[in-house]
Amino acid sequence: MSPDQSTADTVPALVLNDGHPIPQLGFGVFQIPPPDTEAATTTALGIGYRHIDTAEMYQNEKGVGLAVARSDLDRSEVFVTSKLNNGFHRPDDARRAFDKTLGELGFEFIDLFLIHWPLPTLYDGDFVSTGEVLVEFQADGRARSIGVSNFQPHHLDRLRTNSDVVPAVNQIEVHPYLTQNDLRAYDADHGIATEAWSPIAQGKVLGDPTIRAIAAGVGKTPAQVVLRWHIQRGDIVFPKSVTTSRMQENFEIFDFELAPGDMDRITALNRDERTGPDPDTFDYVPT
Ligand SMILES: NC(=O)c1ccc[n+]([C@@H]2O[C@H](COP(=O)([O-])OP(=O)(O)OC[C@H]3O[C@@H](n4cnc5c(N)ncnc54)[C@H](OP(=O)(O)O)[C@@H]3O)[C@@H](O)[C@H]2O)c1
Repeated sequence: MSPDQSTADTVPALVLNDGHPIPQLGFGVFQIPPPDTEAATTTALGIGYRHIDTAEMYQNEKGVGLAVARSDLDRSEVFVTSKLNNGFHRPDDARRAFDKTLGELGFEFIDLFLIHWPLPTLYDGDFVSTGEVLVEFQADGRARSIGVSNFQPHHLDRLRTNSDVVPAVNQIEVHPYLTQNDLRAYDADHGIATEAWSPIAQGKVLGDPTIRAIAAGVGKTPAQVVLRWHIQRGDIVFPKSVTTSRMQENFEIFDFELAPGDMDRITALNRDERTGPDPDTFDYVPT
């Protein structure tokens, strides 16, 4: 079957520093229970999403892979990301974990594979050799693009100084209460695309009076306004929802534009407030 033209037409693609295109809007599957993931992903693909963000840690790669395989889309039409789990930073463990990820997904290759967390307090702080293993996956063609997640500038500096690893993306927490202007600027200065996780702060920003007022002014919902703000800042987003109407709502953000003044009002809501862990101290290793 031919690709869904509405998707190709409406969701912009950014070009990563390795030349590969990535749809700027995707669908995240964090906290979707494994038995529900195939159905949710199938619904997302039906709406037009062509970019799915999963991770070994979410334990639902299999559902993502089944949804892609059982759709009438070619594998090449869906951009899929997964991430190395925190227990597998040592090179041989990372190699085994990556094999398992491809096996769970049922894929020959993955579009993007990330180091999920830097874990600077574990493994003697050595995420550099972990990054070098990801380069092997890219060299043998099984990972089209490679990158990192939750890396701070000093982590990226260390990676650059001690290796030839060139991350295509840095996936970090970003939303109106955590605008991450400095880290995003660092990424941009080094040709790294920023992916904004928890783009609506898991719903926490949707009741904000400023966001609600802007939404009323443009005739859109608060979630659409916040996602549009990310898109206009140039970041990549993949909101999660198991609610079909919200999945549809989150997809309809390309038929309006926020004025510069509204963009600035949203950015000014920053409180440096995380919903998730601090990357410098996070040391959770699932058992
Ligand atoms: N790299 C990392 O460390 C990391 C960490 C966290 C997340 N992520 C990625 O980022 C993705 C998104 O982040 P997230 O899942 O934490 O949070 P999110 O997308 O900011 O928010 C998801 C929550 O918002 C609700 N929601 C979604 N759309 C809505 C709408 N239009 N109106 C009202 N509520 C809405 C969802 O509810 P329902 O599902 O009940 O509809 C869910 O409770 C994840 O799925 C994952 O792929 C990565």
